Amino acid sequence: MKRFYSLLIILLFFSHSMVRAQHQIIPAPVSYEASEGSLIIDQNMSLVLLSESDDLSRQVEFLKSDLKEIGINLSQITGDSTIVKSLRIGFHETALDTLGNEGYQLVIEEGGILLMANTKAGTFNGIQTLKQLLPLSRTTSEEGVVAPIEIQTCIIEDFPRFGWRGLMLDVSRHFFTVDEVKAYLDQMAAYKMNVFHWHLTDDQGWRIEIKTFPKLTEVGAWRVERHGKFGAGRAAPKKSEKATYGGFYTQEQIKDVIAYAAERNITIVPEIDVPGHSMALLAAYPQYSTKKEYKMVNPGAKFVDWYGNGKFKMNIENTLNPADPAVYAFLDMLFGEVADLFPGEYIHMGGDEAYHGYWEEDAKVQEFMAKNGIEDGKALQSYFVKRVEKIISSKGKKMIGWDEILDGGLADGAAVMSWRGTKGGIEAVGLGHKVVMTPNEFTYLDFTQGDYSVENKIYSDLSLKKAYSFEPVPDFVLDPELILGGQGNLWTEAVPSISYAFYMTYPRAFAISEALWSTKESKDWEGFVRRTESHFSRFDQKGINVAKTIYEPEVRVYNEGRKLMCELKNPFEDIEMYYAIDNAYPIATGIKYEGPFEIPAGDLSLRAQSFRDGNSIGRLLHISRKDLEARVK
Ligand code: ACM
Repeated sequence: MKRFYSLLIILLFFSHSMVRAQHQIIPAPVSYEASEGSLIIDQNMSLVLLSESDDLSRQVEFLKSDLKEIGINLSQITGDSTIVKSLRIGFHETALDTLGNEGYQLVIEEGGILLMANTKAGTFNGIQTLKQLLPLSRTTSEEGVVAPIEIQTCIIEDFPRFGWRGLMLDVSRHFFTVDEVKAYLDQMAAYKMNVFHWHLTDDQGWRIEIKTFPKLTEVGAWRVERHGKFGAGRAAPKKSEKATYGGFYTQEQIKDVIAYAAERNITIVPEIDVPGHSMALLAAYPQYSTKKEYKMVNPGAKFVDWYGNGKFKMNIENTLNPADPAVYAFLDMLFGEVADLFPGEYIHMGGDEAYHGYWEEDAKVQEFMAKNGIEDGKALQSYFVKRVEKIISSKGKKMIGWDEILDGGLADGAAVMSWRGTKGGIEAVGLGHKVVMTPNEFTYLDFTQGDYSVENKIYSDLSLKKAYSFEPVPDFVLDPELILGGQGNLWTEAVPSISYAFYMTYPRAFAISEALWSTKESKDWEGFVRRTESHFSRFDQKGINVAKTIYEPEVRVYNEGRKLMCELKNPFEDIEMYYAIDNAYPIATGIKYEGPFEIPAGDLSLRAQSFRDGNSIGRLLHISRKDLEARVK
């Protein structure tokens, strides 16, 4: 009897936390059917492997160690699993077509859990879903009783919309260590992203060891240390200065990262960006440019004049010489080593923003063009891209490049990464090329995600809502089957740490993962916002920096006649916004936002902040009237 009462007390104590919520899974599964009932997991749960597979055993080892963190001991048993609470996991003997290569079925019953898939990628993805259904920590009562875990019974059938669900990390502008890259991969995998595009080379640093060309890393991996705004506020390097900032990955480290990624269902696509963005390469081997001049790796100092509309001038040569046979011999050996290292299907050759000015000025290049009937810079770039494609395919790999590689015609078999909107992607599909969609206005994770008064202003804006509206298949595309998928790209000119890289990536990568995994019909902004919020708390518990800008007021200013009007928005019904235009503090005693209001004339500023249950949530925005005026479109 005493035992009964203590059990009752424990259940009452925890009953308020046993909320039967809708699922909080990101990306949203294709099908989720909840039923009345719940699975209560306490200390012990039996594990039954229904298929023999080293990969499955390894996946389960990961799961076991995660569950140990929350006090659950998964102990493997053989025999009749139905008599105990069990997690049964295995492969279908005959593949189930609907699940494809990466799908899974997850059944949560009162008696246990069943996870089935066709492949190890499927079980891996199913385990990621299961982990999202479990808490990351357990509450303990004052009496020291650990709360049981309760999961609503449900049946999930889930598979991805696209096979290419990527994130790109630029490790040239900022060098990230192996452990930092692995941490980035961990989060990608948790959200079922399966392609890691590793931007390994650029003007600001060469990051991959190439044994045939040691100077690429001895010289190219290092630059003088500079802080401040990239491309404007950083001084050019002086010859007398020591290049102390940088780093690179040895081939052994790269193999380690590849294996780490593979265990998490992630394929790595390495990028060697040529013929442009090659200043680090040319700092090591100036002979591969037209001028062959000595230069240092760029520390983010200004060397480009941007004229708008994608037009620009490079004041330091950062392009390879496409008329020099030695360049192709060099690239052949270079891509040979890259192909030997990376087991994936694709190698990315960059191809973006190559400046043709030095080619146009060089007599030998002009002579080469005349001899080969090459009309202009675009045609010369196309000649270069086609030769690189031959090199890459001779190594047994497929080539992919940024959409500039379409200019002047592209070799069959090459794939295109559409970044300047979807135009290049649509054109490439029309020509029969495979395409990865990464239109910058929806997927560039370096763009500003909140109000300029609290966020860094860089290039352009990308709110979570806009990222959530990313649709990888444009209307009227000729052959949607050629669209492999898409990815979010994190350029790191203004990202000086892994913590900030996470902040810029999440939650927008949730939106991108959902655009690439979930069905098009399941788009639901309110539901996504609710799920995103529940993942904020998971990131907080994991100690990972996540941007919570969606709590903060979204400020829109406009003119109504001669009045300057201001509208504040946020996507949460239970969040109130307060503002002040009279320098009064605290802001909570300011004016509760009820609708658009006028900003009066005068030397004043707007302060605005969000509150939930009387507590501030999100940062205080502070914008001068002058800045508000400048925001009117
Ligand atoms: C790019 O953003 N330059 C591909």
